[in-house]
Order: sequence, then C-alpha cells, then structure tokens
Amino acid sequence: MVPGVGRHRTVHTCKTCGSSAPRWTGRCATCGEWNSLVEEEAPGLADAAGSNRRSGERLRPDVGPLLLADVDPDASIPFSTGLGEVDRVLAGGLVPGSVTLIGGEPGIGKSTLVLQALSAIAAAGRTVLLVAAEESAEQVRRRAARLGALDGQCYVVGTTELPAALEAVARVKPHVVVVDSIQTVADPLLASPAGSTSQVRECAGALADLAKASGISVVLVGHVTKDGSLAGPRTLEHLVDTVLTFEGDRHHTLRLLAATKHRFGPTGEIGLFEMTEEGLTGLDDPSRLLLADRAAPAPGTVIVPVAEGRRPLLVEMQALTTAAHGGAPRRVVEGVSAARASLMLAVVERCLGMPTGVVDVFVSTVGGIRVTEPATDLGLALCIVSALGGRPVPADTVVFGELGLTGELRHTPRAERRLAEAHRLGFRRAIVPKGTPRGPADLEVHPVEGLVEAATMVDLVGSVLESSRKALAAGSSCFSGKEPRSRLASA
Ligand code: TYD
Ligand code: MG
Repeated sequence: MVPGVGRHRTVHTCKTCGSSAPRWTGRCATCGEWNSLVEEEAPGLADAAGSNRRSGERLRPDVGPLLLADVDPDASIPFSTGLGEVDRVLAGGLVPGSVTLIGGEPGIGKSTLVLQALSAIAAAGRTVLLVAAEESAEQVRRRAARLGALDGQCYVVGTTELPAALEAVARVKPHVVVVDSIQTVADPLLASPAGSTSQVRECAGALADLAKASGISVVLVGHVTKDGSLAGPRTLEHLVDTVLTFEGDRHHTLRLLAATKHRFGPTGEIGLFEMTEEGLTGLDDPSRLLLADRAAPAPGTVIVPVAEGRRPLLVEMQALTTAAHGGAPRRVVEGVSAARASLMLAVVERCLGMPTGVVDVFVSTVGGIRVTEPATDLGLALCIVSALGGRPVPADTVVFGELGLTGELRHTPRAERRLAEAHRLGFRRAIVPKGTPRGPADLEVHPVEGLVEAATMVDLVGSVLESSRKALAAGSSCFSGKEPRSRLASA
C-alpha cells in the first residue's frame, strides 16, 4: 500500500479480456470466461496521489489528417532482422514504429532469439536497446558473448521500471527496443504489482505509444501459460501490430516461429530453428530435418506435404489406437485441431466401417509442427486407418487433400509446390484429389475421388475392405469413387 493515501479502491480485472468490474463475479460479463477476474488496485489511484501523468499520453504524436497521397509510403518499409527465418515470418522484417509481441513458454528460447536478432540488426548498422527486466546486464553480456552477439551499437539496460526504460530509450535513441519481458516491467505510479493485468496493459500501452510517436520498432517478450494464453491480458494482442508465437518441445531442438496476427503481411509462414550450443540456427531445409528420424514404415504414420506459407514442408502425422477400457474413449490430439481429428474419425468410421468408438486415439505431428490446413485431412484420416488396421502406408508415398463429410476428396491449392517438395525429398508416389495437375515427371501421381479409394490404393484396408464393402452395400451414402482396380505394391 502506498503510505499516506487514505482510501484505497480495488477493481476486479479479467485476466482474459482485460475488462474490469467493480465486484467479483464468477464469470466475466464482457468475454464470458469463467473464473478470470482478479482483484487489483484501481489504476489511477497512485496517479492521482502523485502526478497526473498517464504513462503514454504525453507521447502521442500530433497527427492531423493528411491527404492519402501525402502519406509517406516509405515510412513503413520493413528492415531485415538479420535472421532469415524471422524475416520470413514477418514478411520482410520489422516495420519502423510497429509493436511486435513475441510469446512463448518459459525456457523455449525467446531471450536467445531476440538477443540474436538485436545483435544482427546492430551489426547491420542500426542502434538497438535491450531492456532486460528478467536478467541482469551482466547475464545478458555473458549470453551475448556465448552467442557471438557483441557487435555494433547494441545497448542494454537492466531495469524493471518503465520510467527507467523510457529514459534509456530517450538517451540511446535506438531504432529497435526490446523489452524482455513485458510481465516483469512495471510503472511504479500504478499501485498494482508487475505482471498484473493493469500493469501489463499500461506498460505495453506506453511502449506502443512510444513506437507510434517516435518510429522506434518495439518488441515485447511475453510468457504464455500452459494453456497457451498470454499470461496477462489478451488485450495485448489488440494493442500490438504483430503477434508472434515461439514454440517447440523443450526436450527437442526444433523451434517454430509463427505469426498469429500481422498488420504488415500474411500470417501463413513459419520460421524454423534448431536450438544449438551456439544459439538458434535457422533451418534451410526443414523437411529433411523433420523426416530425419523416420524409421521403417510403421502402421499409423503418413507423410503429408503441408503448404501453409510459401515454403512447403513435409510433415509426418502419426496416430496410435488402443482398446479403450471402459468409459468414454480418449482422444489425445497434438499438432492438429481436435475438432478436425474427431471429424476424420467419424468419416473413417462411416466410410470404411471401422469402429472408432471402442478405441482410444492419440494423434500427433512429428517435431511439434502445428498444421491447420484442410489439405492435411486425407493424411489424418489415413494414419488413423493405418493405425486401426495395423498396416503401414508405403514409405515412398505422400498424401494430401481435403475430405468432405461423405469422404469425398476436394481440390487442394498449391498442389504443384507440394508435389515438387515430395519429389525433392525422394518420394515416388502421391495420392491426391482428382483434378490435381501433374507433378514432376518421375513422381507417380494418383488422383483419387475419395477416402475409400485412397485407402485401397495404398493397400490399407485389406481385411477391413470387406466390412467397408458391406457397409457400402448396405446403403451407406459414403462416397467411394469408382471401385479401385490396381493397388500399389507396398514399398
Ligand atoms: P531462453 O532464451 O532463456 O528462453 P526464454 O527467454 O524463452 O525463457 O533460453 C532457454 C534455454 O535455451 C535454456 O534452457 C538454455 C537453452 N540455450 C541453448 O541451448 N543454447 C544457447 O545458446 C542458449 C543461449 C540457450
Ligand atoms: Mg527469457
């Protein structure tokens, strides 16, 4: 409590949406989230006692209306971060005057990533400042030495106080300032503790105003909680121009950078890194690394060429099915949407007559890659069929295509790119939707009409084929396509 201040008022702030309510309720009236209200000192209390500064207000630039034609188009041209994979995700680099939030679990490598980027930006001739609010300047120095990141005009200030950080910015006049992390800086003029919703929001707001007023690119590092939400309010996501997520399995070396929001370009690209002794190294050929640990073909795995961004990737999808022992069968899904996985289970059951309600199903992607494209449907369905039937998909085959509810395959965009990537990595066959253009000459492309034809083509159905035929004969409306004539020989 601030001494000398008489009455003190608290508000209840929602951790999810940042809205506040005078009284605690079980459910946030604004966003509907349960149990998300926390009690905090009312913001503005200390302001009133101290000065009437509201952190960001004085920084707002004085901008009048301009003729659209008079707006400087070059003011928002991105500059390279010096790390190719980061530039790829940012569609070129950091935009002057923009605010970027990079979120990730503790220990995943956010501080390493921003330090490497800062050092590369400094080495290219710009001035940069790191506000180290979690580590001391000495710790940062040691890490930078280890990463070989001591070049150029790279400044550091070890502080957890927003005014000290803003003062450092005013003195250094950097092109880029990184605040690591936004949850550990606080404005002492606010009574609530660092990391609280109001602190995070106010500090980020002040830094966003700084970016807009000065043209400095501001990067905020934020920790996310286990459930993936940014600790602190989601309101931060509205406040910034770009939201990046940095992910990976801490026990593996692969790291993924993706944009979930980007005001200056598309969001489909992913940047891939390997965490090494010498810091993060960008991966030029991620497909090769993703496939590196592949053993002999086992039931329940399939390779899918994913093309969410401009760079296609070969991703191994895996399914494991085991007898469910009573109760509701378990569905454990990682790397793909749980809803999509449920849908594919239903399609498999309906079209192939394979009972999926009696098994626990585990689905994941290798390397922790998260895929959201519908083009992965066929892969998802076939790895489930393969796991259920105990037969492997041939090792030299890739599959892609969006599946409809009746098991029909839909046309899939960017097919040439997918086929070219599969061919480059030595695959010889592709099962694709009808109407897909032919790929490279020595890649056998097999267009199929639906799931049943695809599963038969790679010889997955075997003994269950009979039951699926019966299911079909019994009037199931499943879309089977024509009776497939030839099957591929297993590789
Ligand atoms: P860090 O960047 O501190 O993570 P975050 O800021 O997201 O909490 O990195 C954490 C881990 O990265 C740490 O466990 C050690 C590992 N690491 C390396 O493997 N190589 C390196 O060169 C560095 C700097 C860190
Ligand atoms: Mg850190």
